[in-house]
Amino acid sequence: MVELAPSILSADFAHLADAVQAAERGGGTLIHVDVMDGHFVPNITVGPPVVRSLRKATRLPLDCHLMIENPDALIPDFAEAGANWISVHYEACRHLHRTLHLIAEHGMKPAVVINPATRVNLLLDILPMVHHVLVMSVNPGFGGQQFLPFTLDKIRHLRELREEHKLNFRIEVDGGVAHDTIARVVQAGADLLVAGNAVFGDGHIEQNCQSLLHAARVAAGELQPV
Ligand code: DX5
Ligand code: ZN
Repeated sequence: MVELAPSILSADFAHLADAVQAAERGGGTLIHVDVMDGHFVPNITVGPPVVRSLRKATRLPLDCHLMIENPDALIPDFAEAGANWISVHYEACRHLHRTLHLIAEHGMKPAVVINPATRVNLLLDILPMVHHVLVMSVNPGFGGQQFLPFTLDKIRHLRELREEHKLNFRIEVDGGVAHDTIARVVQAGADLLVAGNAVFGDGHIEQNCQSLLHAARVAAGELQPV
């Protein structure tokens, strides 16, 4: 089943609870939280205190995408704040295997993220221990960027590896997922679809979730086109 993970990066941060609830009414089944530290990426967003507040605003799993240096230092704080899924960047982790274990030990689902310039093959040895792989389809740091089509090959490659090695990790995609790209992303094999600008950009949160999900389900063969 494809799932939509609205990214609050493009929401009104003064009204996050309303934004998250509208996304949930529209069919979003995860809330994607972009954590940026101004070092790994050239932008700063939110951390555990905001996750703690979001935890009170929704029962949906909080899918925290850490775009930070040294994520190990904050993993206990995210767990305590109520995060459910934690993804860390391959490019930011000196000891990725240890970091993924640490996330799991804290009762959260571990995931790895790769930037557009990072090859899928580098993940081979840790694929059995991740809940999902997040493929960045833009360079991380900002919402509203244009989808990079060459990243579709990474999604296809991951799907092949999952089959070949009989694994069951899920494939998430993040960046530029919108009405004009979502079908291609789903057809390539992604089943967790992050969308920021396409959900929150124009304020029609509920309708945007519905129409993105509809397009995704048609592309996945879960629905007939109308
Ligand atoms: C970018 C973030 C994304 C971002 C996607 O670094 O990781 O989650 O919110 O935004 P859109 O969907 O607008 O490209
Ligand atoms: Zn993200």
